[in-house]
Amino acid sequence: MSLSFSAHPHGVKTVIVPAAGMGTRFLPATKTVPKELLPVVDTPGIELIAEEAAALGVSRMAVVVAPNKQEVLGHFGQFPELVETLTQRGKLEQVSKVQRAGQLMTPVAVEQDKPLGLGHAVGLAEEVLDDDEDVVAVMLPDDLVLPVGVLEKMAQVRAELGGSVLCAFNVSPEEVFNYGVFDIQEISADVDLPAESVKRVVGMVEKPEASEAPSTLVAAGRYLLDRAIFDALRRITPGKGGELQLTDAIELMIKEGHPVHIVIHEGKRHDLGNPAGYIPACVDFGLSHPVYGPALRKSITDILAEHDALAAASEQG
Ligand code: UTP
Repeated sequence: MSLSFSAHPHGVKTVIVPAAGMGTRFLPATKTVPKELLPVVDTPGIELIAEEAAALGVSRMAVVVAPNKQEVLGHFGQFPELVETLTQRGKLEQVSKVQRAGQLMTPVAVEQDKPLGLGHAVGLAEEVLDDDEDVVAVMLPDDLVLPVGVLEKMAQVRAELGGSVLCAFNVSPEEVFNYGVFDIQEISADVDLPAESVKRVVGMVEKPEASEAPSTLVAAGRYLLDRAIFDALRRITPGKGGELQLTDAIELMIKEGHPVHIVIHEGKRHDLGNPAGYIPACVDFGLSHPVYGPALRKSITDILAEHDALAAASEQG
């Protein structure tokens, strides 16, 4: 399918969403349910990602999935019988909930036979791009970056400085070993965004020890990558964990002189990929929900009081 550029205000037609990982941190749920379909309140993470991509003007989502695990794409289907039944029953709010995902995005499946790494997964998606696409977005469905809008800032930086642009977060030194970490320099050119939030990347290290980390600025699951990434991905060899790492391909492009910048995001981030991040995300979204928020606040207050009382009793006795 070919989509016209006029429909894509930032020139980004396609977002690649790698969803072929094993989801081991979410077992046993992920035996049968892809983690991207786990709901944050009532909406699966993949729909929240689609909403963010649609805000950038993206219209096609290349979802990288494991063989026989296409349920994630099913979420973007039409569901005519369900829509008809709900319509007949006058449940129009529910009808719009059913139809929403399919209206946001056209999904395309890209199959990854074996989980050989994030870099491998992204590389496979080149086959769905049109010839005129010189930039692609990559969004990790585990990461919620809030408030939505950082991708637009990244597109603005690419328009001004060229090359590839990534989203960065500041973490504590104890946390860097979990992430791809940036080695940065101040930028020399003028950009419309505040200089403190845009940096040039001179190197990138995947999951370093704290003592070897070049900074505490880490990659946060949002990438705007020049098409040159696919050539770099073909030339890297397995890195950390024996996997083909996206970080290594970006590092290769930097070494070869390709401009890479980061936009430092000041908002919040939820990691939906493991229960320790998913539960707070549900609480956060739940508390903000107009229907469930007030009752949830009371429930949480009661639960906290109960746990505090139990802790105090066990300290005494
Ligand atoms: P993660 O390593 O965080 O996800 O990969 P995972 O492998 O599913 O999680 P655990 O560690 O087993 O719990 C980051 C993203 O890259 C995708 C994952 O689906 C996730 O969205 N990925 C990773 C692939 O699509 N293919 C791979 O080979 C590896």
